[in-house]
Amino acid sequence: MVITIDGPAGAGKSSVSKQIAEILGIKFLDTGAIYRAIALILHEAEIQPEENILLREALLKIKIKILGKKVYVNDFDVSSEIRTPKVDKLASVYSALKPVRESLLELQREQENYGSLIAEGRDVGSVVFPNSDLKIYLTASPEARAKRRYDERISKGMTADYEKILLDIKTRDEYDSQREVSPLKIPDGAIILDTSDMTEQQVIDKILGFVHDRGLQKIEAE
Ligand code: DC
Repeated sequence: MVITIDGPAGAGKSSVSKQIAEILGIKFLDTGAIYRAIALILHEAEIQPEENILLREALLKIKIKILGKKVYVNDFDVSSEIRTPKVDKLASVYSALKPVRESLLELQREQENYGSLIAEGRDVGSVVFPNSDLKIYLTASPEARAKRRYDERISKGMTADYEKILLDIKTRDEYDSQREVSPLKIPDGAIILDTSDMTEQQVIDKILGFVHDRGLQKIEAE
């Protein structure tokens, strides 16, 4: 069984997917983490997005591994380093490049060989797993998403500026949905869930309802 959750930044995809994976006892594939890891490494290697040949050479040498919630690049654990505002921006830029997307496609698809999974990202239902059993497009207004990010940072004791977060979200939305390769879009056959006025628990329950309606829990049990 493969469930895909696509949608813009801050729609709650990661948190919802993680919890559904736990409830259903299946794997969680955070494809954004893979793009973040590769962007961080390319940036540290000082390879600019427009250096096409250098970029392709570097991509051949970079080995990314995902083990549970951890992401490794050439055996280095980069799981925390990739969660910074700086990497938010780098990932948006490098993930728009065709060679980067091509080099990561197989890695994402082969995760299906290790068992049922819920994958979240921007093109998991449209490009990576076009035949998935259930496709969800999770969205929310930019204001609702910015408010969630703001609350999240404040609750972690970090400083936050709502207007700046909102602007970053709008910029990333535009960048992710207007790029030429695999732009963020609603996959064919996806169920659209606008979560602006929903709690996280309501979103989880709704998706579990779709899983149940399609008899997917039964597939999992078999
Ligand atoms: O979901 P996230 O914020 O961790 O994603 C980081 C960046 O990677 C984001 O700018 C969009 C990009 N991304 C992508 O292009 N395709 C995916 N399947 C997942 C993420």
